[in-house]
Amino acid sequence: MDLSTTYLGLELPHPVIPGASPLADDLDTVRRLEDAGAPAIVLRSLFAEQIAREEVQSFLHLDRHGESFAEALSFFPSPERFALGPDEYLEHLRKVKEAVRVPVIASLNGTRPGSWRDYPGLIERMGADALELNIYHLPTDPSVTGDEIEELALQAVREVKRSVRIPVAVKLSPFFSAFGHFAARLDAAGADALVLFNRFYQPDIDPETLTVVPSLHLSRSSELALRLRWLALLSGRVRASLAVTGGVHDGVDALKAVMAGAHAVQVVSALLARGPEYLATIRRELAQWLEEHEYASLREAQGSMNLLACPDPEAYERANYMLILQGWRAGRRAGA
Ligand SMILES: Cc1cc2nc3c(=O)[nH]c(=O)nc-3n(C[C@H](O)[C@H](O)[C@H](O)COP(=O)(O)O)c2cc1C
Repeated sequence: MDLSTTYLGLELPHPVIPGASPLADDLDTVRRLEDAGAPAIVLRSLFAEQIAREEVQSFLHLDRHGESFAEALSFFPSPERFALGPDEYLEHLRKVKEAVRVPVIASLNGTRPGSWRDYPGLIERMGADALELNIYHLPTDPSVTGDEIEELALQAVREVKRSVRIPVAVKLSPFFSAFGHFAARLDAAGADALVLFNRFYQPDIDPETLTVVPSLHLSRSSELALRLRWLALLSGRVRASLAVTGGVHDGVDALKAVMAGAHAVQVVSALLARGPEYLATIRRELAQWLEEHEYASLREAQGSMNLLACPDPEAYERANYMLILQGWRAGRRAGA
């Protein structure tokens, strides 16, 4: 089965990619992913906060301001809380490039223009084949408008696009008031791919200890539905390629994302839970489904269930919401 796809201008033999995570921290695991057939590898993110901390630190060191400004460093998370510092990140990227033949996608995480300093260029020079920008913004200040937040992200993308030649993907959250419009603006700003969606790591409250408890749970397939809808709504309407991240756990999940319009299917939780070799299983299940249903290739299925092609476009829209609520009967499932 021909599973080939084009993502970020890269010709890939199939769409199932290990997403940004600790999976690529270790060179042995990176090689295992490649052996399992990973067509590209995404590295974990380097955070803007790490870059800023290092900058303050070298300022203190160079200008002997250590005593008076040492407190400035306390505003940044301490370096031991990160797996790789900025220099180590570049060095690790170089090693991963040496270790595998498949394209390597580096990742920068932040919220505003300028926050990555010259790292996009350094990452390109270190050999990355593409760069994923994770714009993980939590707007906690009620005086900041949606437009201001979007503008910051757009400027950040424009700035990075001006400074590198490698393709740039933008990984996003779904929490924008008019996500479709924002996606179209990112597309116009030059984003080469949109990666849908960041999972939000929601803090919980422990009422006994009166503490806010951070929590990280691996995803479930049920999280895919939100992504499917937005893939379907954007597919065929933006120039950028589309990737899904969040909730892909088997070949049928991957297939649904492709049918909704994904060019690449990123997987993290399933590989963390079952090991790097599970990537080959997802790929095999995807191929098997397409064969059994007599598709000639993956491209034939790609976008076949997007809003433009879907036999029942209302299913993605408000009408469906009304019908589902109206159709509920006690003791049986809506629509059953
Ligand atoms: C332990 C862990 C570490 C992660 N680190 C990053 C990261 O550094 N950068 C990033 O963009 N996403 C990171 N993610 C998010 C994943 O790339 C992915 O978007 C998310 O887990 C949803 O995909 P999944 O359902 O396949 O797990 C991380 C996820 C996990 C579970």
